[in-house]
Amino acid sequence: MLLMSGRDVCHGVVFLLLLSCRFSCGVESDINCLKSIKASLEDPLDMLSSSWDFNNDTEGFICNFLGIECWHPHESKVLNIKLVDLGLKGRFPRGVQNCTSLTGLDLSSNNLSGSLPDDIDRLNYFITSLDLSSNSFSGLIPKSISNFTFLNILKLDNNKFLGEIPPQLGQLSRIKTFSVTNNQLSGPTTRNKTFSHPPMAMKFPSYCVILHVLPQNI
Ligand SMILES: *[C@@H]1O[C@H](CO)[C@@H](O)[C@H](O)[C@H]1NC(C)=O
Ligand SMILES: *[C@@H]1O[C@H](CO)[C@@H](O)[C@H](O)[C@H]1NC(C)=O
Ligand SMILES: *[C@@H]1O[C@H](CO)[C@@H](O)[C@H](O)[C@H]1NC(C)=O
Ligand SMILES: *[C@@H]1O[C@H](CO)[C@@H](O)[C@H](O)[C@H]1NC(C)=O
Ligand SMILES: *[C@@H]1O[C@H](CO)[C@@H](O)[C@H](O)[C@H]1NC(C)=O
Repeated sequence: MLLMSGRDVCHGVVFLLLLSCRFSCGVESDINCLKSIKASLEDPLDMLSSSWDFNNDTEGFICNFLGIECWHPHESKVLNIKLVDLGLKGRFPRGVQNCTSLTGLDLSSNNLSGSLPDDIDRLNYFITSLDLSSNSFSGLIPKSISNFTFLNILKLDNNKFLGEIPPQLGQLSRIKTFSVTNNQLSGPTTRNKTFSHPPMAMKFPSYCVILHVLPQNI
């Protein structure tokens, strides 16, 4: 291990993680995650109902679903969910927290409404991208978003969010894209703040940030 370059160590660790995930992360939970998302969203254009067919036993079958990207095409473990401009309605799909290996969630340009759950940080802590822009979300921006330590992209613009931007979001040290314009936010805001931190994602593949929270003696 000592002789490996940083990059090899990273790949090695990710490989170990993936191996251990086969036994502990529970692929079943990702299938349930998508079932729950489908059940909780209104889909007036039948975008999900035509693509998300759960009557299939093939390992990795969900990886062919519209908007779903898996870690590996033959393993039902979801890496990214991108459901953009599909006319979806309803509230933020809480079931997404059961996709325990998710790194990116993009629900932009739909017609989702209601407030975000205060405990939205129950999503995978390693999430690097959260795009909820161009919907009709309302209420306060949950301060718990600040618990997504690895977040690179946070887009909440073009919604109906109220109140102030939680100051805790200033702790998101890896953020490189942050937009909250066109909401009903009040108070002292830095809506178009640019961040001076070097964007981590440009230096490492996003999964490598996992390294920083592993115990030193692995
Ligand atoms: C099940 O999923 C696999 C992999 O996506 C696909 O090739 C196959 O056609 C599907 N079977 C049915 C019955 O839909
Ligand atoms: C997550 O999955 C568990 C087990 O399947 C289930 O009991 C729970 O309701 C799910 N959570 C959400 C928010 O759907
Ligand atoms: C979004 O929903 C609102 C209220 O339900 C409706 O008036 C509006 O037409 C919808 N917009 C789109 C783009 O579907
Ligand atoms: C972050 O997560 C911890 C542990 O779940 C929780 O106690 C804390 O309130 C969260 N932070 C915020 C700002 O919500
Ligand atoms: C934010 O952007 C607007 C329009 O682009 C500009 O007028 C304003 O000065 C900017 N505010 C800050 C704090 O940079």
